[in-house]
Amino acid sequence: MNLLEAMEQRHAIRAYTDEPVDQAVLDILRAEIDACNQESGLHIQMAAGLDDAFLGLKTHYGRFTGVHNAIALIGRPACVGATDGTAPNDATAAWHKAAAADEAATDAGEITLQERVGYYGERLALRAVQLGLETSWAVLDDADTAEHPWWCLHPGEKIVWVLAFGHGARPGGRRRSKPIEELCRIPDGMTMPDWFRAGMEAAMLAPTSLSQQPFLFTLHEDGTVSAEATEGLFAHVGLGCAKYHFEVGAGRDRVVWR
Ligand SMILES: Cc1cc2nc3c(=O)[nH]c(=O)nc-3n(C[C@H](O)[C@H](O)[C@H](O)COP(=O)(O)O)c2cc1C
Repeated sequence: MNLLEAMEQRHAIRAYTDEPVDQAVLDILRAEIDACNQESGLHIQMAAGLDDAFLGLKTHYGRFTGVHNAIALIGRPACVGATDGTAPNDATAAWHKAAAADEAATDAGEITLQERVGYYGERLALRAVQLGLETSWAVLDDADTAEHPWWCLHPGEKIVWVLAFGHGARPGGRRRSKPIEELCRIPDGMTMPDWFRAGMEAAMLAPTSLSQQPFLFTLHEDGTVSAEATEGLFAHVGLGCAKYHFEVGAGRDRVVWR
């Protein structure tokens, strides 16, 4: 299955069977996580075969059952303490308060982290789908204070997003999308190039919190592309997911980010 097929095939699956994931498949996923961590500086970790990989914690929304395997998307805000002089732990606490209140990230380091989590998390989700598994993104409330977590947080790091994965207990639902015209802009009078359309069609398959698709891609006169988050829950993570999809759909060599 190629990545475009994996995008079509992927759905948020919230119920899993007890069938264990093959060791060989877990090894491939672990290698992909190592590669993502190397490239991104994130501290992504994985657990498999647990009774409850979500540790009884509440998810931000949605009911999950049989989650035996998960990937914890962990990182540190890119410039914690550097932009506003806040100590890492204060910044982390402030972030958790904002997340609980569903406020959008405003700190530059936080925005960079969230977009990076989206980009690399979605790369892992699609790899899992290619390996015959189902996945779902989820936000675990109070994950940073969980007792006996299977992940480890270094100073200044935080975990909020997780990916459940495994053998799905039921098929995914129908996907809906905003029309392409609402999600991108091209210069006046230009016909949308095929590569840009292919990128957008892939981006439209990306998961976003509550399916809000809070992103806008712009093709500029000089052929470069920019992408920004619009209003929505955890918009910067969704933007990161959509940017990964866009690159795959358009062809990585074609896309020059502005
Ligand atoms: C950043 C992010 C956070 C999400 N958080 C949750 C969550 O807390 N609970 C949940 O049930 N689904 C969550 N989802 C899954 C989305 O609701 C789901 O991907 C979306 O509805 C689109 O459906 P699809 O993935 O089947 O295309 C999240 C997705 C993203 C990208």
